[in-house]
Order: sequence, then C-alpha cells, then structure tokens
Amino acid sequence: MRFLLPLFVALVVAATVAVPVLDQVTLRWFSRDLNSRGMLVANTLSDAVTEALLQKRPERLRSLFDRVVQDERLVAIGLCAPDDVLLFATERFARMLDCAQASAWAGQGDPRASVAGGAVHVGVHDIRAVAPPVTEAGSLEGAAPDLSLSPEQALAALGPGPGTVSEPVRIGRLVLLHDLSFIDRRSQDTRRYLIGLITALGALVALITVTVAQISWRGWVNGARAVLRGEGILTPLLPAPELQPLVVELRSRLRDLEDEYRRAQGPEVDWDAARLRSLLRTQLAGDQVIVVSNREPYIHERLDDRVVVRRPASGLVTAVEPVMRACSGTWVAHGSGSADRAVVDAGDRVAVPPGQHDYWLRRVWLSAEEEQGYYYGFANEGMWPLCHVAHVRPVFRESDWEAYKAVNQRFADAVVAEARSDDPVVLVQDYHFALLPAMVRERLPQATIITFWHIPWPNPESFGICPWRSEILQGLLGSTILGFHTRFHGKNFIETVDRYLEARIEHEHSTIAFREKETLVESYPISIAWPEAGDPDMARPVADCRRRVFERLALPADACLAVGVDRFDYTKGILERLNAVERLLEKRPDWQGRFVFVQVAAPTRSALDEYRSFQERVQRQAERINARFGTPGYRPVHLLAEHHEHDAVNELFRAADLCVVTSLHDGMNLVCKEFVAARDDEQGVLVLSRFAGAARELPEALIVNPYHVEETADALHRAASMPAAEQRERMASLRSTVREFNVYRWAGRMLADAGRWRLRARIEARVRRFQGG
Ligand code: F6P
Repeated sequence: MRFLLPLFVALVVAATVAVPVLDQVTLRWFSRDLNSRGMLVANTLSDAVTEALLQKRPERLRSLFDRVVQDERLVAIGLCAPDDVLLFATERFARMLDCAQASAWAGQGDPRASVAGGAVHVGVHDIRAVAPPVTEAGSLEGAAPDLSLSPEQALAALGPGPGTVSEPVRIGRLVLLHDLSFIDRRSQDTRRYLIGLITALGALVALITVTVAQISWRGWVNGARAVLRGEGILTPLLPAPELQPLVVELRSRLRDLEDEYRRAQGPEVDWDAARLRSLLRTQLAGDQVIVVSNREPYIHERLDDRVVVRRPASGLVTAVEPVMRACSGTWVAHGSGSADRAVVDAGDRVAVPPGQHDYWLRRVWLSAEEEQGYYYGFANEGMWPLCHVAHVRPVFRESDWEAYKAVNQRFADAVVAEARSDDPVVLVQDYHFALLPAMVRERLPQATIITFWHIPWPNPESFGICPWRSEILQGLLGSTILGFHTRFHGKNFIETVDRYLEARIEHEHSTIAFREKETLVESYPISIAWPEAGDPDMARPVADCRRRVFERLALPADACLAVGVDRFDYTKGILERLNAVERLLEKRPDWQGRFVFVQVAAPTRSALDEYRSFQERVQRQAERINARFGTPGYRPVHLLAEHHEHDAVNELFRAADLCVVTSLHDGMNLVCKEFVAARDDEQGVLVLSRFAGAARELPEALIVNPYHVEETADALHRAASMPAAEQRERMASLRSTVREFNVYRWAGRMLADAGRWRLRARIEARVRRFQGG
C-alpha cells in the first residue's frame, strides 16, 4: 500500500497534465489538416468562383457549393467580396456568421469560432484573378466587383493600368466553415484511451513492482534467517551485495550478544576447588600431595609480646595456597618468621591457615650461613639475574653453590620424611630447588614429581654462563613433569638441554629422556583463585574503597589514581614506571595536580647490595619527581615501601583508576590478575608490560614496552582518559579470561597430566611383570 498510493497519485497527476496537452496538440494537428483541406477545396473551386464572379452570376455557384457542403465536415461556404460584402453563400452560412467576422477570425490566427450551430473552423481563402492591362478605369481591389460589367470589362476594371502586365489580384474571399464537433468527439475518445492506457500501465507497473518487492523481501528474510542460523547468505534470487550491509550489522550485533552471553555464562568447564579435589580423588586416587617451596605461606612473627601471622608478598604463595587448601597434604617451606619455631609441633609442623587447619605446613630451619649462601647467594644473586633479562650480572660463588646443594638436600630429606607412601605427588616450586627433583627421585623413584619454574628460562647462550649448568639441568630432569608459564620458556629449556646434555628429545611430545628417565616439558600459565560469591574482599563497595584510600593518602578529590604493587625488585620496572609518570606530567601539564601514582613496594632481599641500591635509586627518583611537580597539597608519587596485607592491596586496587605493571621480564606476574579480579565493577584500566608472561593472556590491557618511556607515558595518558564504556569492554573481557583460566585450572591441568603419567607407569609395570612371568 505504501508503494501503490504514491503510484496512484502520480498517475492521476500525469493524466491531469497530459490530457489538456494532448487536446492542444491534436487540435493543432486538426487545424492544420482543415487548413490544408480548405485550401484544396478553395483551389478546386477557384476557377468556377472566378468565372462566376466575372460573369456577375454568383448564383451559378449554388449547385456547386451545395455539392461541396455535402461533405459531412464542411458545413457552410460563403463568398465574400474583398470589402467583406457577402456575395453568395450556402444556406447555413448566414446563420452562422458574416464576412466581417470571418475576416476578423482569420486575422487573429485562431481558426476556431463558436457560432450558433456549435464550434466551427473558419478558413478564409483569397480568390485571385489576373487582369489584362487596362486604362484609367482603376482596380477592383478593395471593393466589390461591379456586377454590371461584362466579364472582359470586369477584368479590365481589376487590372493595374494601361500597358502593364498585371499581377493576380484578389477578387473575393471564399469562407469555408468546417464542423469542429468531430474534433471534440475525437478528443474525448483520445482522452478515454489515454486514461485507459495510463491506468493499464499503472496496474502493470504496480503488479511488477509488488511481485519484485515480494520476491526481494522473501530473499532478504531468507538471507537474514540464514545469517542468524550462521549459514551464510542463501539467497539465490538476490545478489548478496544487497544484503551485505544488513549482514555486517547483524553479524556484529550477534557477536556482541554472543560475547555478552559467553561472559555471563562463564567457562564451559569451571575449575574450582571442588573440581580440583575431585580430580585428586579420581585421577590420583587420593594420593598424598606434598608442596615444597622456599617461601612459606604463613609467617609467624613476634610483635611486642604477641605472635602475628603474616602472608608474604609472593606470587608463588598466592597461586599455590588455594590449591593446597583444596588438596590438603603438606607444604614444606623455610621457616623464616621470628615466631615460627614457637608455633610448630615436635615434627616442625603447624596446621594452616590459622584457625582453619586445611593442610600442614612443615618448616625447615636454615642457619644464617645456609640462608646467605643458598637463598641470597646462589638463588638470588646467581639464578635470578641469570634467568631474568634485566641487565644485572649474575654472581656465581662456589660457596653459594655448595650451600645451594646442601639446602636442596635438606629440603629433599624433609619431603621424603613427610611422604606417607613411596609414590606421593610432589609439587616442587621454583628456582630455589633446581637440584631437589633428582634428589627426591633417587629416594622415591615411584614419586610423581611436578616441578614448576615460576621465572623465565633464558636462551641456551645466556644459561650457558652458569658454571653448574649441567648439574642444574640434570637436577630438573629428575621431575616427571617440568612446567613453565609459557611455551617460549619451555622451548628455551629444551634447547638448553639439547645444547648441554646427552639426552633424547621428542619434540613431538615435548619430552626429554635422560638416563632412562622421561620428563614431560609443558606450559601451564599460572593464575589466581577467582573470588567466590560473597568473598569479603568484594564486600566493600568500590566508592567506599576509593573514599578511604583518598582520605588516607590525602589525595585531591578529582585525582586520577594509578597504582603499582610489587616486590621491591629491579625486575619489576619500577624506575621505568616512574620515568613514564614524570614524562606524562612533563608532556601533558594538564595532569599536573591531578595525576597521582601510588607505588606499593614490599621490601624484599634487602640484604643484597643490588636490591639496596636499586631501592635507594627508586626513593631518590620519587623524591625528585615530587620536588619537580609537587605543590602544597599535591604529591604526584606516593612510594609506600612497606609490606601491605592482602586486604589493603585489594582496597587499593578497587580504589584505583589504573594499575601499572611494567616488569622488565616476568614469568607471569599475578599482580595484574589480582587487579582484574578486584574490579567487579568492570572499571579500571590495566597497563601491562609486554615482557610479562601475562601479556599473552591479557591482550585487552594496554600493552607497553617499559623501556620506551614515551610509549609508556602515552599509555598512562590513554588509560587515565579512557571512557567508562571502553574500560567496561576491556575489563569484562579480562575478567572472563582470568576467571576461566584460574589457579585451579593451572593445578588441575598439571595434576591431570600427572595422573595420566602415573597410570601409564603402572600399566608398563604390569606389562613388565607379565613379560617377566
Ligand atoms: O617470581 C618468582 C617468585 O618465586 C615469586 O613467586 C615470588 O614472589 C618470588 O619469586 C620470591 O620472592 P621471595 O624471594 O621474597 O620469596
């Protein structure tokens, strides 16, 4: 109807305009025809009329005129003298008009006249004759011929003069009246035909259009349906380009909906503590799990007369602790707290978490020399800089190496002592225990030893500078499974073994066989435990957290708050971060007075010169920036170089506008994942170093090269000015990733691989027994 109505209106307008135009045109054609016809009749009559005139016997024309007017179109004929005197006429002529009127009509150029009998076409045709040369008698031109003269005299009277050759002169006018009523009839017929034609055409156009529109519409609907079903454009009658804009819109909207749906649904297979526990029961038949790490998950400290429990700033502890709470078992670690000895039982064990008693913490005591050589010396002055590309030279001392070996043996003994069977699952953590896997393997050959290397593994050339490279590789190959955060680090390890040991490497299966023993090298990106519903960390609203942090630090109300939370370590890129903050304030002075950067830096390894001097440099840098850009009531950098408990860090994350992680090299980095987990309001921007393993998993962060001060400063600006909608889009996606790839998945994947490995080993043992029997 939307189409037919305009079409109908257009046709009516066309008809209204076309009919009068057509009338005009046909009338003009007919006039021309009647003129020609009249001329023909006049020519035909001319001789007879001339003769009758010259003979002064116009009545002789009667029969001729009567015959002529028998023609149905010619209604009357009149013969007028040049001075408009009617000389002779057919019967109806006089009733219709006189000669003067006829001359007047003819003079106007419009041949139509409305006369008594109806509309007529008036044709006036001169009758001319050639006169012989005559004397003074004058001419008849302009006057009625003198009917008393003989023909010869009459002609002579018309002549120009004596002796001259005469021109034809008008001796009368023949007036022909044609009936016009037939034109009206024809015009009405034409009008009827025209309207009929326009109507028929309109109907045809409407029919074609409606049919094509129906087909097109069906095509569009089918195409849209196909797109919705994900089948592509199945529109045989329509070319795809017509539907393309719709398809693009539909697809993008569908993708948005899918994303929203996926985010709302969460992962297909949710990994949580319960699932991990059930995996242990099914795949590992409830076998004992023993974790071994240097750092303990709970540190008992003496504070005045009280004993307080502290959680260390350690990514390792953040990740492994929830796994242990789910699996129970025993965690073997260095007892480093001042009150640690006071709270353990006779077997150096204490149940943790305090008050909940989910698992056992078995403490190993180290002397100051052992700690110095093994922890500060070999682990943190040798292995740490060796594995991190942070341009700090590793230091290898023989005495440190000896301490490292001895302490590894002490911990291996503790593991063996804690084992309740000959095949426990032992989870060895980090670079402090590179020798321990082989040591445990020697005493418990049936044990499943899963070693996780929490820091990067360098390329073979870099690793090759370690004087005890072969011993370290051999120690690690005591593991059943050796895990890294990324494939890249696993590949580096395999290449290092290839370079420095005689081992068989199966690249296809990522296994290394060394001295009849096989190790699977795999990547397991570590993560955090996703906060559960009702988690007390999320209880305080973001606005409250922000208000409290702003009050505590006396920040300007309109400040943009950026935070960094790290161990005070040179690999974390804290100096580079401060350089970027300074550059931002320099480049974009509008941030001065409004941009505040709060750096929480948990003191770590401060007994080492390298760390002390680094921490002092950071202090000086912060002071310099504050002196340069600070004003009364505004300090751009707040350096909080003290340990912060988990809830304080969480509050800071929830209060912040952005979180800055600019590690120069990092196995994974869990701070960024904790920030994401803290933002249940889906706001806040993560600025993340491309050299942290997490950058591969979290591309929705603003990824930066921390060595590039300009790029990092620009990223800070972009993060600080990011619209809320974009923040939500990015944060929602980050949250869905971290939630799905949580620490239970990390542990679950390793333990599931271990379960398969153990099953295979048992089958092989049975097969050997059959073969032996
Ligand atoms: O980054 C590797 C790592 O083991 C972390 O898991 C842990 O936070 C840190 O190194 C060890 O720190 P610390 O020497 O203070 O225990």
